Amino acid sequence: MLGVFDSGFGGLTILKELVKVLPNYDFVYLGDNARAPYGNRSFDSIYRYSLQAVNYLFSIGCPLVILACNTASAKALRTIQQKDLQRIAPNNRVLGIIRPLAEEIGKFTETKCAGILGTEGTIASKSYLLEIAKFWPDLHIEQEACPMLVPLVENALLEHPATEVFVREYTQKILAKNSQIDTLVLGCTHYPLLQEIFLKVLPKNIKIVSQGSIIAQKTLEYLANHSEIDARISKNGKIRFLTTDSPEFFEKGAKVFWNTQIKPESISLQ
Ligand code: DGL
Repeated sequence: MLGVFDSGFGGLTILKELVKVLPNYDFVYLGDNARAPYGNRSFDSIYRYSLQAVNYLFSIGCPLVILACNTASAKALRTIQQKDLQRIAPNNRVLGIIRPLAEEIGKFTETKCAGILGTEGTIASKSYLLEIAKFWPDLHIEQEACPMLVPLVENALLEHPATEVFVREYTQKILAKNSQIDTLVLGCTHYPLLQEIFLKVLPKNIKIVSQGSIIAQKTLEYLANHSEIDARISKNGKIRFLTTDSPEFFEKGAKVFWNTQIKPESISLQ
């Protein structure tokens, strides 16, 4: 199985795209719903929770785990890769979702000015700035934290007028930082659900980049280049859904993210 982890439901937007390009692969999705949102939690908590999730997914047979959460990718990935992996499972791998986006961003912007929207944790970590600078040192990047958006999406308030008010406010703030911005990255796995609202409030010349399809393509390439990992992932076209909250909670909350019925299983992480 290929493990996909998120603090809650947001990683389902990544899983959806992964399943499109890897339809025969077995996936297991783990949402730490009981402790979501991660966005404004401390580095220590996000690292500890993410490591628990990775350990769990390894223990049930995932040789590869994708941290399908920007906040966890920003605050836990590097330490897990550099400090823990060698000790807990040297032949397994953990990947995040910030670097793949950083590799591609320069292909979208013509003005060389782009903006990143994300949770407070992702923005404060400066991970996007650091990663993008490695691949595209001549880009000008602005960032804006959007703390209200995850709670609005998690509560299925996509149609609520408040959601548009906040999307408008955050986008105006970031565009005011640099009028040359022509590309905005939705740097949180929840934000693709707000794509329509972003399209409505943004000037027509601004491109919106969501992560799902980019991550899917990069995962495909990764597996093609790492046959030793690929060979260990089972391929029966099955998807399991795990949550740290109740199955009922997950099933209800996942409806806006996933359009077929799912039967989640409840687990506890420690
Ligand atoms: N979906 C997560 C991300 O991509 C954030 C959700 C949360 O705050 O837990 O950053």
